[in-house]
Amino acid sequence: MKLWGGRFTENSSKILEEFNGSINFDKRMYREDIEGSIAHSRMLAVQGIIAGEEQKLIEEALGEVKSEIEEGAFTFNIGDEDIHMAIEKRLIEKVGPVGGKLHTARSRNDQVALDIRMHLKREGNLIMDLLRDVMEGIHSKSEENKDVIMPGYTHLQRAQPVSAAHHFMAYFQMFKRDYERMEQVMERLDEMPLGAGALAGTTYNIDRGFVAKELGFKKVTENSIDTVSDRDFIIEMNFVISMISMHLSRFCEEIVVWCTTEFSFVEMADTYSTGSSIMPQKKNPDVAELIRGKTGRIYGNLVGIMTVMKGLPLAYNKDTQEDKEGVFDSIDTIKISLLIFKEMFETMKINRNKMYENLEGGFINATDVADYLAKRGVPFREAHRVVGEIVVHCEINKKKISELKLEKFKEFHSEFGEDIHKKIGLENCVWERNSYGGTGREALAVQMANGKKYLNIIGG
Ligand code: ARG
Repeated sequence: MKLWGGRFTENSSKILEEFNGSINFDKRMYREDIEGSIAHSRMLAVQGIIAGEEQKLIEEALGEVKSEIEEGAFTFNIGDEDIHMAIEKRLIEKVGPVGGKLHTARSRNDQVALDIRMHLKREGNLIMDLLRDVMEGIHSKSEENKDVIMPGYTHLQRAQPVSAAHHFMAYFQMFKRDYERMEQVMERLDEMPLGAGALAGTTYNIDRGFVAKELGFKKVTENSIDTVSDRDFIIEMNFVISMISMHLSRFCEEIVVWCTTEFSFVEMADTYSTGSSIMPQKKNPDVAELIRGKTGRIYGNLVGIMTVMKGLPLAYNKDTQEDKEGVFDSIDTIKISLLIFKEMFETMKINRNKMYENLEGGFINATDVADYLAKRGVPFREAHRVVGEIVVHCEINKKKISELKLEKFKEFHSEFGEDIHKKIGLENCVWERNSYGGTGREALAVQMANGKKYLNIIGG
């Protein structure tokens, strides 16, 4: 017999149970369900809605149910529909009819809203910790490689030389924004839904503030109809995870490219690469590829829940049961992705010589030649044209710009002087770009210090 079976004369069909049930995936929220029920029962007792003795029995039994689940002694049965019903049923089995008082002034609609919020708070905090670890890893690898110069790219064409640390730290900024976004999601998650009832509130003299306090929520939700139908916070969680995944994926894409023989900027540790079953020479960056690939399912989960929600009238609809599997999958996927990314990145060897060699050719200091002239009063547009001509000359004569003699430079423009070779040397091009946020030595030091400060603020 179902807990809601009173108005039914026939049992549910087997296939309905399979289709309707969510216990196979929402059992993951058993802890939140039990914590929420205990807080609710305490409130009922404090408000005189149930007796103190009854509450004690209920709380004790709920504690036992929790242990049963954790010890694997609890049987999850699809016929019980969801985790809320399964736990309540077991409670009643244990303490008898008094267990049936727990659900006073509550509905599964506000109960499930509570459970998911609590669960996402918990998982969101874990994701933030992992994100912080990744940022820490990026920061320390950047420190180690502060002096390494590599080509910076636009259009994946060599553009201007940069410090490898500056390149890595670009990702630090992305993850910092993700961290802040997650903090904002956590802020909006921090509203306690219980007390909304099925949709309209309740006639019992409940104390929602008490429950909020018991469960560590900052405030209670404002509108009971919105409370049971709102899934914005799940969408936001899916979105922030999508953003993290997109950032990881971009970094992984670069790493995959850097691992190629053509680039050879980095070498993956054996522990984080795999071999080919047929080609003995191969060492594949599977970890980076898989993190990149998993972005697909994470986006899918975001689009999935957005689509579920788009046509729903107020208030609760069963459609929203579809909110969980996607976000659970995204949470699990991003957690392991962040974890393994950090290890892969930390153990990855940077091939500084190869990075440096790749700066040759491609006229990566051409902007600096133009800047040289512009700083001597030549309009930048004219300087740009002159350097274009120099590049063509070098291409035809198979020379680097720095190999031209001063006389040759002067043939292109009279403003070229003695110091041209020094000014367009690679070191100079990188370390002198000290505009705030630039790759120059001083600017980079400021950036690294700010990064460190942020890591300290968010703790660890
Ligand atoms: N398993 C349901 C869900 O995930 C719980 C809420 C059910 N409420 C209801 N009125 N049937 O949404």
